[in-house]
Amino acid sequence: MTCAVVAGIGGYVPPGVVTNEDLTKRFDTSDTWIRTRTGIATRHVVDPGAATSDLAVEAGRRALECAGATTADAVVLATSTPDHLCPATAPAVAARLSLGSVPAFDVGAVCSGFVYGLATAAGLITAGTAETVLLVAADAFTTMVDPRDRSTSVIFADGAGAVLLRAGDSQEAGAVGPVVLGSDGAGKEVLEVPAGGSRQRSSGVPPEPGDEYLKMRGREAYRHAVERMTTASRQALARVGWTPDDVHKLAAHQANARIIGTVAEELGIGQTQRLTNIEQVGNTVGASIPLLLAQAASEGRLVSGERVLLTTFGAGLAWGATTLTWPSLGEVPAPSAA
Ligand code: UT7
Repeated sequence: MTCAVVAGIGGYVPPGVVTNEDLTKRFDTSDTWIRTRTGIATRHVVDPGAATSDLAVEAGRRALECAGATTADAVVLATSTPDHLCPATAPAVAARLSLGSVPAFDVGAVCSGFVYGLATAAGLITAGTAETVLLVAADAFTTMVDPRDRSTSVIFADGAGAVLLRAGDSQEAGAVGPVVLGSDGAGKEVLEVPAGGSRQRSSGVPPEPGDEYLKMRGREAYRHAVERMTTASRQALARVGWTPDDVHKLAAHQANARIIGTVAEELGIGQTQRLTNIEQVGNTVGASIPLLLAQAASEGRLVSGERVLLTTFGAGLAWGATTLTWPSLGEVPAPSAA
């Protein structure tokens, strides 16, 4: 059966670094609080004037190079921080990567953008619309974080991850398994940017101060994240016919180290099987999972033939999970700025 197969991967984080120590100069917080409550020590942030497409182009270029490819038949960009409200950012990414007049569009599923993007890209491949799809997940999410809000400022960060997907067979290594997706718009206020969209703009009234930034109900988001990532994981495992014992590596959205730990414990997935990079990069929203996979592959923590479970949750509310067996890839460079 035709399906989408991972042919290359790349990650990118911008050069700017914010440490916990830096945050203690801005907020009533501490390195100990941040590390114990979130697992984060450092995060990368875009320089003033930089945008999501700048991150996306670098990650996309690295995924193409890893696959030894110079073309793709389509570009899908998962982001919740497009360069502009209009147009979509994917066409600019395709143009900057010299990919020609290929179809290019954005997918908006916030932290679940990469998994939603996998389902979208796989659909383009199985429908015969494209033989190869460059899927990039990129967010300059710190541009949406309220600089006065300590609870979100300590968590969120910027980055990008990309995979080149090609048409292949479901039995091959790298084949993306059945993708489980879900949403609950009744919970949209758990993580929401109130202003900037058509609702506020049509009113003709300027936004309330701070409404252009993310508002997060942290405890509620935490509870939903554990429940949804665990349930979606079980569904994705059932769909592909694996048990938790079959999973070599868990690649969960890097929302909070405690969330990842609880989801893994609920699933019965041991410490050594959990991939994490939240300590170094924080919560990079849509980029989180491909950035994690790229980093793990570059460090040899993820090797060919390993069965990987991907699971995610975020604003929407939206969540998802899928599986893949890690392919044999070309060299995966570390997702650094250089
Ligand atoms: O990406 C997917 C979507 N996002 C998430 O999944 C995020 C999920 N939520 C979380 O990661 C956590 O809820 C947070 C890290 C945001 C907060 O951690 P928590 O352990 O849930 O803390 P809390 O919200 O229950 O707050 C405990 C206390 C509060 O003080 P009081 O009311 O008990 O006096 C907060 O004001 O911690 C306070 N607090 C902080 N203290 C020091 C909140 N942020 C900070 C901070 N430093 N940065």
